[in-house]
Amino acid sequence: MADYAVASYLKDLESQFTIPKDKLKEMTLIFKNELEIGLTKIDGMLKDLPTFVYNLPDGSEVGKFLTADLGGTNLRIGLVELLGSGEFKIKKDSVMIPEALKCGSGRGIFSFVAENIEKFLEHPEIEAELPLKLGFTFSFPVKQESLAHGQILGWSKEIEARDVIGQDVVGLLQQSLHSRNLDIAVEALINDTVGTLLAQIYRDPRTKMSVILGTGSNAAYVEKSCNITKISHQEPSELTVINIEWGSFGDTKSEYNPNISNLLPSTKYDLELDFESKNSGKQRFEKMISGMYLGEIFRLIIVEMIQLGLIHKSEHFEAMKINRPYSIKTKEMSNFHEIFLSKNYEKCEEISRTKFGVSGAKSEVLSKICELISLRSCHLCAVGITSVHRHLLNSGDLSKDHLFSVALDGALYQKYPNYSKILQNLVCEMENVEKDEVCRVVLVMAEDLSSIGAAAAIAAAQKKQITN
Ligand code: BGC
Repeated sequence: MADYAVASYLKDLESQFTIPKDKLKEMTLIFKNELEIGLTKIDGMLKDLPTFVYNLPDGSEVGKFLTADLGGTNLRIGLVELLGSGEFKIKKDSVMIPEALKCGSGRGIFSFVAENIEKFLEHPEIEAELPLKLGFTFSFPVKQESLAHGQILGWSKEIEARDVIGQDVVGLLQQSLHSRNLDIAVEALINDTVGTLLAQIYRDPRTKMSVILGTGSNAAYVEKSCNITKISHQEPSELTVINIEWGSFGDTKSEYNPNISNLLPSTKYDLELDFESKNSGKQRFEKMISGMYLGEIFRLIIVEMIQLGLIHKSEHFEAMKINRPYSIKTKEMSNFHEIFLSKNYEKCEEISRTKFGVSGAKSEVLSKICELISLRSCHLCAVGITSVHRHLLNSGDLSKDHLFSVALDGALYQKYPNYSKILQNLVCEMENVEKDEVCRVVLVMAEDLSSIGAAAAIAAAQKKQITN
């Protein structure tokens, strides 16, 4: 196939994946407005879930806590020691969640968590610390009723475990712990965004927001309690934390602007990915941003290029099952892109043949596709961060000169080549920062902190009880 056919295909892809500036502005405005609607209504496009975290840590909290952190890929069990002055120590074990559990019974997942807690307690130095209170980080949408209770609203990240939707997360874990005769009290249930935010506040009280860019994507921020008018009871503290669940942005029509039918700049690849996914029609913003999905978008493009005769199957195509959804992981795409940027073109050729199952594909063509997909993810994330910042400026909770410090975590942010740098630049660009001005929105890496946040949530709540 002639080079010009590939070049024209790439050009077309570029126009599909590039979000025009006006569209970014429109999305930012609508995101901000939907964020505000979500604080007043329970059925908004953005869920804006109240977290019942009424006591933000101030860095002085101390104590030892057991933590369990269930994400979309891994389960981490830890012993966290808060030392005060924003310092901490952690000992942790990590295990991958078996694929079979992800589409089995929901109770199986909680039993898996309990089983791994039991194993962790077998370390003699951990056992010696018992009894311990447990902070549970659960990285899925939950409607909380208190700090230690909340109903599962649904699964995400291609997990589809049965029979537990609407049930109390803590009750399910507590039952599994009791059936193993483990006398452990779950004292806090938090989302991973909330854990990351609390941990970073523990280290630096100026932190106002957190974002996860990992298997899934979501954000949390500190809100004035009086702005959350959708809950009937009086919140007992001036500030609390909102779990935005931003993955659902664009799933329904904008209440603020119902005439906009295509809020998200979805391509045919996004539509196909969503159609084939386990939660079709849901989490469509997340599906354009997060690590669970970027590799799959890349795979759909590769398969199309093969069908169009622009590139060819290599001898590894069948063995790597490239025709199967999710056979190319974002980690592999990221690795390829990194090797390309380091100019090791020979290695790139080898990866395209052996991992992506294609031959005759120029490395610069595949790397351009990686760039388009990852750059669009960065732009959409920048829309979310800028919207939250605008909301806080608008509601008078933050002044223009204040630093807006955002804690970020997740493998995409930590490991995808240049992602963190590009995101910081985009955010400043969207803030209209002039060359000689300082950008007030500062993104800070908060690596693997959500368990620390779970511990800080318990410690801060305890401290409040004592001082009362
Ligand atoms: C979940 C969020 C979570 C995010 C990051 C999303 O799929 O809905 O609750 O915070 O992933 O893990």
